[in-house]
Parts: sequence; structure tokens; C-alpha cells
Amino acid sequence: MFRISFWEKFLDGIPEYLARYYWWAYLWRPAIWFFDHQPIINLILFGQYKRLLSQALQCLENRPEGRFLQLTCVYGKLTSSLLKYLDNEPLYLVDVARVQLDSSLNKLKPEQRSQLLLACMNAESLAFKKDSFSTILIFFLMHEMPVSARKRTLSESIQVLQTGGRLIIVEYAENPCRHWIYRLRYLRKQLLHWEPFLEDFWKEDITAILKQEATKLGKTLRQTEQHLVYDSFYRVMVYEMTE
Ligand SMILES: C[S@@+](CC[C@H](N)C(=O)[O-])C[C@H]1O[C@@H](n2cnc3c(N)ncnc32)[C@H](O)[C@@H]1O
Repeated sequence: MFRISFWEKFLDGIPEYLARYYWWAYLWRPAIWFFDHQPIINLILFGQYKRLLSQALQCLENRPEGRFLQLTCVYGKLTSSLLKYLDNEPLYLVDVARVQLDSSLNKLKPEQRSQLLLACMNAESLAFKKDSFSTILIFFLMHEMPVSARKRTLSESIQVLQTGGRLIIVEYAENPCRHWIYRLRYLRKQLLHWEPFLEDFWKEDITAILKQEATKLGKTLRQTEQHLVYDSFYRVMVYEMTE
């Protein structure tokens, strides 16, 4: 008799890597409830959540006028902080998992809900018009994707970012081999067990990929800022789409 694995039950328009490797974090309802608690989020980010969030918000200063896209849902208060920052302007929030979009909406105050525009989409194939957004924020998504999905997502982000637009990526830093977390073999192995694409991500030059993908689309992107956090274990990168 043919039997399907537990994770395959989550394959319902969901990319295979997400269902297979992250069902327990993003698709299974009890997990969504469990992970969306501040102490858990802080534990996963080794106590750095507040610093990363505040650095990301600082990078929005003087952001270009126009539409704002948060590329995928995140646990914690990023979305509500962005809505506060945007005042009455709308925030577009894309995620491929309907349960995540529902959860992001449900945790907002009723008066903030109408400011959030939800779109159930795969980040690898965004159904927005070219140059739709002036700001795109990607918070810890890249390292959870296999190389090909990551490249496609970056390419799609460039495609929908207008000239003069800003792209902000909050992520693990490149090559953290001198950091204590990396040097503690057991801890590194645990991290890589739960984050199976992180090892590849650590070795990748995201800026080079972004520039390459931009060139393919006839666009030019330049890095304007990089903030290293927690002794260079994490980073916040800012790019600008130039003429
Ligand atoms: C932003 S990432 C990780 C965030 C981080 N671990 C946190 O919660 O703070 C997790 C989200 O990305 C979404 N996701 C993953 N791959 C996606 C894709 N290809 N397209 C759209 N959403 C995706 C998942 O459904 C999940 O809601």
C-alpha cells in the first residue's frame, strides 16, 4: 500500500521545500501558536530579536515614497511595527501559506487590520506588476530557501522594485566561522539540523547574486548599507535600485 509522509499533508500549493523541512515551524497550526511567543522568538535568535527589529526599522528612515512590501510573514511584532511606522499607508504582505497570513492578521489590533493588504503568493513568482514597490523588506526568509528558490525570489523582488526603491534584507551574516555559536560544534549541528539550507546560505554572496539578477533584468542595484549584529552573526543589508 502507498503511504504518504506526514509532511506531504501540507503540500497544498506550498513549495515542496517548505512543506518537507518547515511544516513543523510554519504550516502546522499548533506550531504557529507555539512559535509566536516573544521568549521563543528571542531564543531562536539568541536574544537578538529586538536589536534586529530596531536596526531594520532604522533602515527605513527617509524611505522613498511608494508602496511597501513585506515579503513573507514573520513571528513577533515586525508587521505591527511596520504598520505603526507607515501610519495610515498600506502594507502589502505576501506569504504562500494562508495559515500564516491569517495568523499575521489575527494578531493585529482591529484598527490596524484594514491597513494590511494580504496576498497569498509564492515569493518565487510574484504576481505584481514590474516596479510596483518603493520598499521591500525580507526578514529571515533567504536562509530557509534552497539556492534555486532563493535566486528566483531575489530576482522577483528586483523585478517589482522601482528605480530609487529600497530593498532591506535581515539575515544571518556570511561565513560566521569565528563566532562562538559556529565554533561550538554541537550547537552548529543543531542549528543546521533545523535550518537545512543555512550552510549553503552562509557561503553565498547575496550582493553578487542580487547584482547579477538585476543585470539580467536590465536594472542596477547598489548596496548602500550593511549593519553587522551580534559580533557579525547577523546582518541587515540595504540596497538601492539606481537608474
Ligand atoms: C520569513 S520566513 C522566516 C521568519 C522567521 N523565522 C521569523 O518568523 O521570525 C517564514 C515565512 O516564509 C514563508 N515562505 C517560505 N517560503 C516561501 C515562498 N516561497 N513564498 C512565500 N512565502 C514563503 C513561510 O510560509 C513563513 O510564513
